[in-house]
Amino acid sequence: MKILGIDIGGSGVKGAPVDTKTGKLLRERHRIDTPETLTPAAMAKTIKTIATHFKWHGPIGVGFPGVIHGPRIMTSANLHPRFVRCDAVNMFSKATGCRVALINDADAAGLAEIRFGAGREIKGTVLLLTLGTGVGSALFHGGRLFPNSELGHLPIRGKSAERFVSSTARKRRELSWEEWGGELSQYIHILEEILWPELIILGGGVSAKHAKYFKYIKPRAKLAPAEFLNEAGIVGAALWAAERK
Ligand code: BGC
Repeated sequence: MKILGIDIGGSGVKGAPVDTKTGKLLRERHRIDTPETLTPAAMAKTIKTIATHFKWHGPIGVGFPGVIHGPRIMTSANLHPRFVRCDAVNMFSKATGCRVALINDADAAGLAEIRFGAGREIKGTVLLLTLGTGVGSALFHGGRLFPNSELGHLPIRGKSAERFVSSTARKRRELSWEEWGGELSQYIHILEEILWPELIILGGGVSAKHAKYFKYIKPRAKLAPAEFLNEAGIVGAALWAAERK
């Protein structure tokens, strides 16, 4: 099946048509930078622009950085507050004229890794963390997704963990790779005490730089960098739309 996968992020929206049988992009991805925080209406227009770029009329899968309940977005920690309780499936399908399926962005990245990447063929519990503007999480067992795990909001020192261990936090706090890796390691230990995953996959922009910080993380589970790098969210959103048809 061919599905347009779209990944909504803190600084841009990107998309590409995906072959959901292979997990491969069929065209080069198209990215629109969003230097200002977009309202839901402006986001719908941006998604329409991406669909038009690919002359797209088929199904679309969209990943969003928030909790998703059916067609609605329930939280928006790093994007416009007006997304909260917004029926994004309705808005985005009206804007594009296409069938739209909506999934949390980290859950989307996790699906790509479980089906075609670092987590393929792993039957036990797999935890994927995306380290970007925020910290996203995706939890799988037997290849099945437990949606909206939101482990980036685990409270640490009275705040969401993502305030300390996201990639943005590393830059904002001017931490060395060793300092940041150490804090990430402590956070991962807490998650391991609770979830006992067999495999932990680290994704997000920093996964390309894993050589700089993996050595400071000492997990009980196996640790692997995401294989999809920047494309996991696009591929996974498309897979979600294919699996929900
Ligand atoms: C959001 C999650 C999202 C993560 C990564 C968090 O702030 O609450 O839903 O997956 O950021 O984008």
